[in-house]
Amino acid sequence: MNEIVLEGNGLCKTFTNGQVSTNVIRNMDVAIYKGDFTVIMGTSGAGKSTLLYMLSGIDTVTSGEILLNNKRIDQLKEKEMTTIRREDIGFIFQEPNLLDDFTVFENIAMTGYLMNKDRKAVNELTNTLLEEVDMMDHQDKYPSQLSGGQKQRVAVARSLINQPGVVFADEPTGALNATQSEAALDLLTAVHMKGQTILMVTHDIRAASRANRLLYIKDGKIDGILQLDQFDSGSLKDREKQVFDFVMSKGW
Ligand SMILES: Nc1ncnc2c1ncn2[C@@H]1O[C@H](COP(=O)(O)OP(=O)(O)OP(=O)(O)O)[C@@H](O)[C@H]1O
Ligand SMILES: [Mg+2]
Repeated sequence: MNEIVLEGNGLCKTFTNGQVSTNVIRNMDVAIYKGDFTVIMGTSGAGKSTLLYMLSGIDTVTSGEILLNNKRIDQLKEKEMTTIRREDIGFIFQEPNLLDDFTVFENIAMTGYLMNKDRKAVNELTNTLLEEVDMMDHQDKYPSQLSGGQKQRVAVARSLINQPGVVFADEPTGALNATQSEAALDLLTAVHMKGQTILMVTHDIRAASRANRLLYIKDGKIDGILQLDQFDSGSLKDREKQVFDFVMSKGW
């Protein structure tokens, strides 16, 4: 069995608006394995983003515990949590959220500089990542000069600059067209093949087919897990069918 890198035990999340409380995540146990490309699926409002934000320490838990590399992170002080977010966690959102006044190169390198790492080492890794995401020729451009797909590729590179234990992605292809989505998924697949652990929320069967493990969320719990073989583009159609049949069987 693979090593667990991230674990949630007895996780609960309740949102309260005035008199009304909603239990979005209900006593959920979840384990994410090192090196896996795990996807979370479920109907809209099922609590996928909420779960992702809790597991990555972006949002608090109502109760339960979260362990990252066997260390509890759910009760850390803000300062310690900021360090973990910068050091151990990469995040890719639906919108790239790049900083408009900084170049592509700077957008990627900045998080590295914030860690007080050796600038030269950060610059070298930035160059490597620029190549990986095929943005070498655009490194001096500003975000406003890029297409949506290019911006998202920069966001992927930025999420990797501190060589995080886990990269989290919430609908990373949600704002992209079909061609751009495919390119972004190819990139995430390549990153995964190099050993990076990825946890991604998606609505998209094609995107989910890149994963090797699928968690289906329903009523605040994990309602089913689909284990897939390692991705191989030759079997994409079969994988898509497997994922489709599985989520349909869960009432998606
Ligand atoms: N900050 C909040 N305050 C109150 N309710 C919230 C808050 N965030 C989420 N919710 C509620 O929690 C539930 C789950 O939301 P969440 O965003 O996790 O769903 P999701 O599965 O990511 O949905 P989608 O697929 O539409 O993105 C929804 O009913 C939502 O309205
Ligand atoms: Mg969501």
